[in-house]
Amino acid sequence: MALREIKLFGEEILRKKCREVTDFNEKLWILLDDMYETMTKANGIGLAAPQVGILRRAIVIDISEHEKGGRMELINPVLTQMKGKQHEIEGCLSYSGKFGYVDRPAKIKLRAQNRFGKEIEYKAEGLLARAICHEVDHLNGILFSDKVTEWAKEETNRR
Ligand code: CO
Repeated sequence: MALREIKLFGEEILRKKCREVTDFNEKLWILLDDMYETMTKANGIGLAAPQVGILRRAIVIDISEHEKGGRMELINPVLTQMKGKQHEIEGCLSYSGKFGYVDRPAKIKLRAQNRFGKEIEYKAEGLLARAICHEVDHLNGILFSDKVTEWAKEETNRR
């Protein structure tokens, strides 16, 4: 495994729409392992492939620092249901020290493939739902700053 460089806000690649993953091979597995290591090192709970410069629909998530959970890998994720609303504070590894409130669905259902191409259905709520929605946005070139309703002042000033 190796650390990859995290692309920061302002870099054009973060605004591109990612293509589907079609090859579930060792190259993908190395990417996923590197993404997980990069995310963990940066104390993040989610990372999308375009954040390390790869325009493919792949996400890693691990919210176990905050809630029960473990390593998740979502390849070609598709949200199939979104219910309710939550309004919580978010950050992003592509923004250093910036946090803001974003509206997200309270509960979601999705389907995604695992690293071997097997399709799996998931349900998520709370922090996990928020993290998944945030990362799926990255795959479509959407950043959390596009959706922030109110920046957290302290962190904004700290930048
Ligand atoms: Co992000």
